[in-house]
Amino acid sequence: MVSVATVQASPAKEVASCSGRRTYHDDMAKVLYTESVIQARVSELGRQIAQDYQGKAPLILGVLKGSFMFFSDLVRAIEPCPRGLTLDFIRASSYGSGTESTGEVKLKTDLRREKVEGRHVLLVEDIVDTALTITTVSRFLLEECGAASVATATLLDKHERRKLSYRPEYTGFVCPNEFVVGYGLDFDEEYRTLPYIGVLKPECYSHLGIEAPEPDGSGESGDE
Ligand code: IMP
Repeated sequence: MVSVATVQASPAKEVASCSGRRTYHDDMAKVLYTESVIQARVSELGRQIAQDYQGKAPLILGVLKGSFMFFSDLVRAIEPCPRGLTLDFIRASSYGSGTESTGEVKLKTDLRREKVEGRHVLLVEDIVDTALTITTVSRFLLEECGAASVATATLLDKHERRKLSYRPEYTGFVCPNEFVVGYGLDFDEEYRTLPYIGVLKPECYSHLGIEAPEPDGSGESGDE
């Protein structure tokens, strides 16, 4: 029998900045998209994708980690499911523990030409912001892996902050220029499990010297 008594609990993570607020819900300044609104929109996107990809045996590629919740809901909503549809993941990161992209996108993947060549790839993203991430992933798939086509389904499009021109083929919601969390999206790895998308209270990150994003957009040339 395994004794659980021997397992040492690690010290509780310091959450001084949010003291007095006991749950993630308490840290929300406002909810932008409720669970039911998200689910309804994901169903619509799934039906549209199912129609568009019939006969194309698509490779649906989740961009981790932020898309994990959207990905799992979306792939179940792709009904009727096209024959030959397969799933995979790629890991991309450009954020440290702040609310601004570092500008350098790192990819981690075991995807190679033999898995991707000639396939119609649909990237699933949580949010397209500056578009550096999605552009880097798309180029990798087209140029290094020989994908037949690459399209993107993003839950959120924060197009005000574009640094590269990019228009996703499928968008859940056009998002205001606020740092959002929940439904897979994190701040410093927290808040991903919330079933809705909300805006954090500034006091949850101001102790890190991070300022709220400018409401009028700090990115260059938007694509819309
Ligand atoms: P981009 O490369 O600037 O388009 O950013 C894409 C990635 O940045 C997303 O996949 C997210 O992981 C992250 N990101 C951008 N905006 C937000 C936000 O408001 N909240 C949480 N993560 C974000």
